[in-house]
Order: sequence, then C-alpha cells, then structure tokens
Amino acid sequence: MNVWDKIGKDHSKNNIMVFIGDKQQKNIEKLFLIHIPLNKKMHVLDAGCGNGRWSSWFSKHVKDVVGIDNSKELLALAKKNQKKNTKFIFGDIEKLPFKDKSFDISFTCIVLQHVLEPKKFQKTTKELLRVTKPGGHILLFEIVKKYEKKREDYIACRPVSEYVKAFRPAKLEKHLGVRCPYPLFGLIYVSKKILTKSNKGDVRDTYALWDRLEHSRLGKPVKAAFLGTYYASIPLNMISRRMTVLSPERIMIFRKPKK
Ligand SMILES: C[S@@+](CC[C@H](N)C(=O)[O-])C[C@H]1O[C@@H](n2cnc3c(N)ncnc32)[C@H](O)[C@@H]1O
Repeated sequence: MNVWDKIGKDHSKNNIMVFIGDKQQKNIEKLFLIHIPLNKKMHVLDAGCGNGRWSSWFSKHVKDVVGIDNSKELLALAKKNQKKNTKFIFGDIEKLPFKDKSFDISFTCIVLQHVLEPKKFQKTTKELLRVTKPGGHILLFEIVKKYEKKREDYIACRPVSEYVKAFRPAKLEKHLGVRCPYPLFGLIYVSKKILTKSNKGDVRDTYALWDRLEHSRLGKPVKAAFLGTYYASIPLNMISRRMTVLSPERIMIFRKPKK
C-alpha cells in the first residue's frame, strides 16, 4: 500500500488540515474562474486526481474530465462521487495513457511537488506537455520554493524557474500567489519545529501528529490560532495581489504554443 493509499484510508474528516484544505479550495476555485477560460467544449485532465475533488469541480464547467492516479484507495473515494462527464483511471502520470494533444487543460494540484527525482519530474512535465492541445493550458497549483525549502522526504519544493524550464516551449502566462503568508509565518515556524522533531519524514506522521494535537488538551487553542491566522490572511490577500507573490502556494498557468 503506498503512502497516498494509506492517507485515503485513514484520513479523518475532522482533521484541521482537511478543513484548511477545503477553505483553501474555495479560494483557488475563485481564482481559477477569473484567470482560466473554461467552457463546455473543453476536455480536462486531472493528473494525480487523488479523491477527485478537482475533477468534480471542473466537471461543472467543462465538457468532460479524466482523472488519473496510482492510488487505488484514493481512486475508490473518487469513484464514489463520480459525475456523468468524469472518468477515473488507474495509471502513472509519468507515462500518460493518452494520445498527443488530447486535452484543452492539463491540470495538477499538489502533485509535482511530490515527484522527487529530477528525471521523473522531467518525464512527467514532458508528458503533461505532450497530451495538451496546441494553444491549450497547463494549470498547476504547487508549493514552490520561496520560503518553503525541501521540507521532508515526501516533498520537493522547486523554484518557479524550474517549472518554466521544464514546461518549455509552453510559456508561463500567469503566476499567482494564493494566500498572504505573513500572519501564517509564526505558526508555520512553530509547527515546523514541532513537526520536524517528531516527524520521521513520512507524510503520514504529519497527519497523525495533527490528529494527536487536535485531540489533546492543546487542541482547541491550536485550532483557534490556526483558523484565526487563516481568516486574517484572507482580507490581506484581497487588499493587494503583490502580498500574495510571497505565498509559497502558487497557481502557475502555462500555455502551449499554437503551432
Ligand atoms: C497531495 S495528493 C493531491 C491529490 C489531488 N490532486 C488533490 O488536490 O486533492 C498527490 C496525489 O498524486 C498522486 N500521485 C503521486 N505520484 C503519482 C504518479 N506517479 N502517478 C499517478 N499519481 C501519482 C498520489 O496518489 C496522490 O493522489
């Protein structure tokens, strides 16, 4: 069973990470609608679709969506909420089982950051480029290396320039920060200190630690502080886009040349 299978099986619905993730998704959805031209003729690929949350969202705005993942557990979750115009398949994003130029949008959300080996990263980006139609978009949401260094063994935050190089000849059209990080700095710093002490470098330890923390006596104050900084960051995010440029969480929109 791979790490993502395990998460699909164990992940508690009440976990604060899930809660923050859900809230954050709403923010990202708004940004996608502003910055990406979606229409009912489009075919979308959700590479590393996990439980299919993004496939479901895209399915409301485009013609059809294919989600691909190599975690059977997460795909089983995805299939539970499968929409009529959505298909989920088991497969490796390094070797996409699709013809060249199949999709108007090839999308990944927090997937490439988990492809650690440089060769695999290169192969995956080439595959995403291959299956995208000329003039089509490659849409990414990833944690980049600005303030987030390579944190643990399961994540490789790369600078935006590395994505730009990997997706050539596609051009980076837009590049947006998602959340103003200032109020979060303190908390991220403290949680990193705690996490790196008790974390053996496996994503499961991080989730387990959050679960333990939430169910301990510290649970309520930790949750309140986290949510407080989360909500405090939203108005700042709205005041100035420039502030969010510092955000480690980035939306990157590439466009493949028309010819
Ligand atoms: C952090 S999860 C993100 C899931 C989903 N995109 C989302 O935003 O909810 C990373 C996903 O990438 C998938 N993944 C990682 N490497 C993969 C590979 N080589 N082929 C297919 N899926 C992969 C994992 O199984 C997992 O579902």
